Amino acid sequence: MKKPAPLDVDAILDDRGTRIIVCCGAGGVGKTTTAAALGLRAAERGRGAVVLTVDPARRLAQSMGLSELDNTPRLVHTAEGGGQLFAMMLDMKRTFDEIIEAHADPERARQILSNPFYQSLSSSFSGTQEYMAMEKLGQLRRSDEWDLIIVDTPPSRSALDFLDAPERLGRFLDGRFIKLLTAPAKAGGRSAFRLLNAGFGLVAGAMTKLLGAQVLKDLQTFVSALDAVFGGFRQRAEMTYRLLQAPGTAFVVVAAPERDAMREASYFVERLAEERMPLAGLVVNRVHFSPAAGISAARSAAAAEDLESKGEHELTAAVLRLHTGRMQLAAREHREQEHFVSAHPTVPVVQVRAMSEDVHDLAGLHQIGELLASGA
Ligand SMILES: Nc1ncnc2c1ncn2[C@@H]1O[C@H](COP(=O)(O)OP(=O)(O)O)[C@@H](O)[C@H]1O
Ligand SMILES: [Mg+2]
Repeated sequence: MKKPAPLDVDAILDDRGTRIIVCCGAGGVGKTTTAAALGLRAAERGRGAVVLTVDPARRLAQSMGLSELDNTPRLVHTAEGGGQLFAMMLDMKRTFDEIIEAHADPERARQILSNPFYQSLSSSFSGTQEYMAMEKLGQLRRSDEWDLIIVDTPPSRSALDFLDAPERLGRFLDGRFIKLLTAPAKAGGRSAFRLLNAGFGLVAGAMTKLLGAQVLKDLQTFVSALDAVFGGFRQRAEMTYRLLQAPGTAFVVVAAPERDAMREASYFVERLAEERMPLAGLVVNRVHFSPAAGISAARSAAAAEDLESKGEHELTAAVLRLHTGRMQLAAREHREQEHFVSAHPTVPVVQVRAMSEDVHDLAGLHQIGELLASGA
């Protein structure tokens, strides 16, 4: 494999100009682990870091003192040099509520929050979690209390969901169905509802039959109230988008050395370039390296076969088989990475080996941090 440039994690963490690090990647590749490990390492190097986690595994959350969803960063660790690690676990519903409370007048806010549609929209709209993570990032950054914010992205199927969320929420709110419901309401109050019935009699009639008059009314109230704060939604999403393009931001793409994850990483890297968002590099996580001293997979397979056919040295044959498997796995992972590197030769890369156990405490995070930094 043509050697990619090494990703110099410490240089990024030590650069005081780095204010935001976003960890992206396909589901299950190690985004949360990487984000937490970067946060701890940043603290160890004297920074005041806050990690915005989305879905930490339970044991990891516990070891960081995050026992429940919480929208306020909590102190996890103070390092020897005085650097600190804070962490919070995004509460999506609460973040949504906060936006409504901050941007609608109290009466309207009450209307929205108590609306039966609010609950389902705020928790089930696809992309809400991504949107809220971005929203929370914007809030933390604007407060200017944090030296370094590290964002773990939601466990979406696709890494791109994170970047697409604001646009998708916007499309939803601009959608025809929504327009149909809000347009008359804007004309004002109850007469507007009659106007709706007159102008869109057929549709409204069908919907009333389908949903019931009260439900339709609730929906209409909700949507028009939401519409009033939605200009703000849009604007802030755009602000956060610009924040992501700013020079103080570093995207770290995380992938496993497997075909789908590497392909996903490729798409994501291309998308970042299109959006002019600053990519720091790629972390290939859970890599299996070929055993250092060793015979090739082919020779060890042949030797195992030989022993097996003679019925001799069963244990040795088993060890040779195991060795063969490891060599093949390492070779396969190597090939998957090669595709990425040849397509993106200038993207810095660091490999983190697969640990024998899950990473569930600060000691484990420290170790991952060391591996992340060992690339340069
Ligand atoms: N290098 C590694 N070696 C061993 N286990 C790892 C490693 N990186 C992550 N894990 C484990 O893999 C699981 C998924 O990691 P996580 O960070 O939650 O992924 P994601 O946030 O991308 O879904 C966790 O149980 C974590 O402890
Ligand atoms: Mg995660």
